[in-house]
Amino acid sequence: MTDTSAELTVDEHLREDEWFDSISRDCVDGLTSDPKWLSPVWFYDEVGSRLFDEITKLDEYYPTRAEASLLADHAAEIIERSGADTLVELGSGTSDKTEHLLDALDATGTLERYVPFDVSGETVRNAADRLIDRYPGLRIHAVVGDFHRHLGEIPQVGRRLVAFLGGTIGNLSPGERSPFLRDLASTMSDDDHLLLGCDLVKDHETLVTAYDDPSGVTAEFNRNALRHANSRLGADFVPENFEHRAVWNGQDAWIEMRLRSTVDQDVDLGSLDTTVHFEAGEELRTEISAKFTPARIDAELTDAGFVVVAMWTAEPGYLLTLARRSITRQE
Ligand code: SAH
Ligand code: AVI
Repeated sequence: MTDTSAELTVDEHLREDEWFDSISRDCVDGLTSDPKWLSPVWFYDEVGSRLFDEITKLDEYYPTRAEASLLADHAAEIIERSGADTLVELGSGTSDKTEHLLDALDATGTLERYVPFDVSGETVRNAADRLIDRYPGLRIHAVVGDFHRHLGEIPQVGRRLVAFLGGTIGNLSPGERSPFLRDLASTMSDDDHLLLGCDLVKDHETLVTAYDDPSGVTAEFNRNALRHANSRLGADFVPENFEHRAVWNGQDAWIEMRLRSTVDQDVDLGSLDTTVHFEAGEELRTEISAKFTPARIDAELTDAGFVVVAMWTAEPGYLLTLARRSITRQE
């Protein structure tokens, strides 16, 4: 389905019922597995998106600030090296940091089109309304879709810089990451560039505190996955019966967000016609947030058919990578 006005086109590739079926199937799989898991997509309803926005402003949550400072310092060079006139952004959310890139495109006089791509239609529409006011003449072609299934639906127009920011690549499991990067490379032309933001491995305390802030915003974001399941499925999770945990898994180099059941309890999953039992102390994994090294990013991008053009890092350990398709890659 496509909605169009003079400056804004919105392509909807996620039929609400289809998306709901897919995340519901995942929910049953994860909650009947041992150990139990839930996809991080459950964080992001309206409340969850607002809580994520609050997280990005916390002193302890450094990735957003580190990435924003890298974009502020290097956007002009990124735009010049990419030669782009179209900015595509995967998992674009509120598109706040994006303004550094749009400003740099505007300054070179090449700004033509912005393509925000997110599962949340409401979030992309809100961002588009703000950006249309801020950049008169900018054409926004928004895509509401799942980046595991709809990369092929990104408009193939202009010379594109495809940004995937915020460290969201780290929320993909290793098994999802490599097909995702390969699929992405296969949708890009030789003139397109990829701009990837990812968090780096660092001392455990900095990492764990970023995911377990003393004001408890991340804990509420984590428990929001349960509230979201209650409202969407009619489940009867009691969020207060689950304790927020952020654990550094050094072997896999990722932070795990978990919810630990504080009591023995049964949870009815409402429309999914399933009841799941939690032992007191049992943990449910709600997210992984992988942390990288520059060498690892280089290797994964090379493996997926990209070649790294430039890398920039900021304290306390955050990496922006500009890459393009490798000429020798295999389709
Ligand atoms: N890029 C922004 C937002 C990061 S939050 C920033 O750097 O601050 C992660 C975003 O990815 C959310 O807006 C969420 O809705 C979106 N997202 C999560 N899974 C997705 C998927 N499978 N397909 C498309 N968007 C997804
Ligand atoms: C969206 N994503 C990159 C965030 C992260 O850091 O992995 C989500 C988040 N989880 C807890 N705090 C923030």
